[in-house]
Amino acid sequence: MTTKPVPQAVAALLTPCAMFLVLTIKPGREAEKTVLEVLADMSGLQRTVRFRNLHADFTCVTGIGSHAWDRLFPGKPRPKELHPFIEMKGAKYTAPSTPGDLLFHIRASQMYMCFEMAMLIMDRLRAVTETQDEVHGFKYFDDRDLLGFVDGTANPEGPYAVEATMIGEEDPEFVNGSYVIVQKYMHDLKTWNELPVEMQEKIIGRKKLSNVELPDDEKPPYAHNVLNVVVKDGKQIDILRDNMPFGEVGDAHFGTYYIGYAKSAATTEEMLHNMFIGKPVGNYDHILDFSTAKTGCLFFVPTEDFLNNVKA
Ligand code: HEM
Repeated sequence: MTTKPVPQAVAALLTPCAMFLVLTIKPGREAEKTVLEVLADMSGLQRTVRFRNLHADFTCVTGIGSHAWDRLFPGKPRPKELHPFIEMKGAKYTAPSTPGDLLFHIRASQMYMCFEMAMLIMDRLRAVTETQDEVHGFKYFDDRDLLGFVDGTANPEGPYAVEATMIGEEDPEFVNGSYVIVQKYMHDLKTWNELPVEMQEKIIGRKKLSNVELPDDEKPPYAHNVLNVVVKDGKQIDILRDNMPFGEVGDAHFGTYYIGYAKSAATTEEMLHNMFIGKPVGNYDHILDFSTAKTGCLFFVPTEDFLNNVKA
């Protein structure tokens, strides 16, 4: 019997704080060598931070983008669905594809744990990478996003979260790996907040205060939770989301950092297609009338065993 490789903490607890670091690797073999050394040390770095507060639900997931994979592991097998993020251009709105070689998704109940981990990572990587994006996210009241709706309710839990996110025998070299898509959305909160709550509820597909899902016959075809249901062979296919609000109040910048893990990137891509291009075409997600996607990246999340065995 072969033992399955140990996954990274993809299906970990959703936490009140998170940091998202998206980096690109500078040209040159030296930069690649340094990145490989850091990848191999990720377990050790996490232990260093985790042990300082064992009650903080601290985790850090590392993702690797398509171009970076080819630079770091030339001639080695590639995960079947690893490719650059596919831009989704609808008639009205576009989900752009933006640069990203490495993703660090750092979660904890205390922001100082995320911050410390980010500092340790960047102490090692600053000289050989460009920071494309850094977001410090927090959970708003009752796990709401800044649109004021509870965000994450329909997520799979426990073994179902594992089933939704872990690659199986369909890609035998990469069992227990995962795919993750991130997008940074900026909200027009002023216009959103001027909208009657009943209209907001139709756009999301849930009641704002109670979080109760609207009955199917009350959901318009453009509701967020209509367009994001993907069904294959009669079965709904889940992904695992851990969206985080973020912003700068002085500048009135308000956003949601979207992050979705899945065993198949195609599931999340189908959701994005439905949201931006529409299902049927033109029936786009009206959340986009108030939310603009600024970034878009796809990463492969290798197993912890894979990272531990990386050679520089
Ligand atoms: C502006 C960005 C976004 C915001 C504020 C947002 C917010 C929400 C909220 C409030 C819900 C309802 C509660 C819940 O089940 O979590 C929801 C559901 C969901 N969202 Fe999003 N979301 C965003 C982007 C996305 C994107 C880009 C995707 C996929 C690519 C996505 C996929 C889903 C899925 C799968 C559900 C659950 C649908 C169901 O089965 O009921 N969301 N989202």
